[in-house]
Amino acid sequence: METVLSGIRPTGNLHLGNYFGALRNFVKMQHDYNCFFFIADWHSLTTHPNPENLHGNIKTVLAEYLAAGIDPDISTIYIQSDIPEIPELYLLLSMNAYVGELERTTTFKDKVRKQPDNVNAGLLTYPVLQAADIIIHKAHHVPVGKDQEQHVEMARKFARRFNNMYKAEIFPEPKPFNFGNDLIKIPGLDGSGKMGKSEGNAINLADEPEAIRKKVMRAVTDAGPTEKNSKKPEAVENLYALLKVVSTPDTVSYFEDKYNSCEVRYGDLKKQLAEDIIKYTSPIREKILEYTADNNFLGKVARQGAEKARASASKTLKEVREVIGFRSF
Ligand code: TYM
Repeated sequence: METVLSGIRPTGNLHLGNYFGALRNFVKMQHDYNCFFFIADWHSLTTHPNPENLHGNIKTVLAEYLAAGIDPDISTIYIQSDIPEIPELYLLLSMNAYVGELERTTTFKDKVRKQPDNVNAGLLTYPVLQAADIIIHKAHHVPVGKDQEQHVEMARKFARRFNNMYKAEIFPEPKPFNFGNDLIKIPGLDGSGKMGKSEGNAINLADEPEAIRKKVMRAVTDAGPTEKNSKKPEAVENLYALLKVVSTPDTVSYFEDKYNSCEVRYGDLKKQLAEDIIKYTSPIREKILEYTADNNFLGKVARQGAEKARASASKTLKEVREVIGFRSF
């Protein structure tokens, strides 16, 4: 059976980008693959979270994974920092990762721009740690959003390089996965870019319906088209992109026709969009509340996941040590 792996950094509540970019696909794959889904808490240290928030954020993400439908008896759900084999593989991979290629990574260049006072070594080697996450379980498929495509490509490269260097077929080359479709980018509600926690333009799975309505109604638009069949400006295109993800094809074509004939009323479009988002998030939100209140169960899930993940990780690491030449006397 092929293996699937993905992860999310614990930086707060999960939003629609996390859900439609990665989590939902993962949930759909659970019955057909050997699945690992984890909380990338070491990765989150690259942006220096407050120690007061870290544990709470990990707990939130764990509860939200379960609420979104990851079944801990089928999939392995775990917290990255519970698996000491990961940093060992990270160290070994970093010996064959070159500073030049790490400096050229798009996410690194973005971070240098965004946090010039905190360009730490963890940011530079972020893709190496991510590669260790992926290949330690010999994953074949990595369900992620568009923004993670380059990181998965780098994991492929590091896996291939390791196999070539030690003339051993230890690691399969992992591929980004979206059921054969292009990876997706869920846009934000502020008229530009992608939905993201730090962008402040996100709708969270845990948001109350009223909060979702408010956020959607505030989304940026324009005065409306004045010429038939004209191209949509980015902010409007973003609303339609969200509609395509959460609404029925009939609803999408209704609003497309309205736009093309210059009769669109953004208020109506937004109302529909908000209600269709709420249809997705409401059942999840209710379960988030239930899981968040059940600390004992969350603890049990984390311990069970750590045990399963460590068993898999240590098996791989044993092979890795052996081919590198670390042998016992
Ligand atoms: P993170 O925590 O930024 O995001 C988690 C997942 O959500 C997806 N995502 C989106 N997809 C579509 N549109 C959006 N607006 C959007 N925003 C977020 C991301 O693509 C991702 O799949 N480096 C990773 C965490 C990680 C990881 C891994 C992922 C660490 N190790 C190994 C896969 C495999 C990250 O920062 O994701």
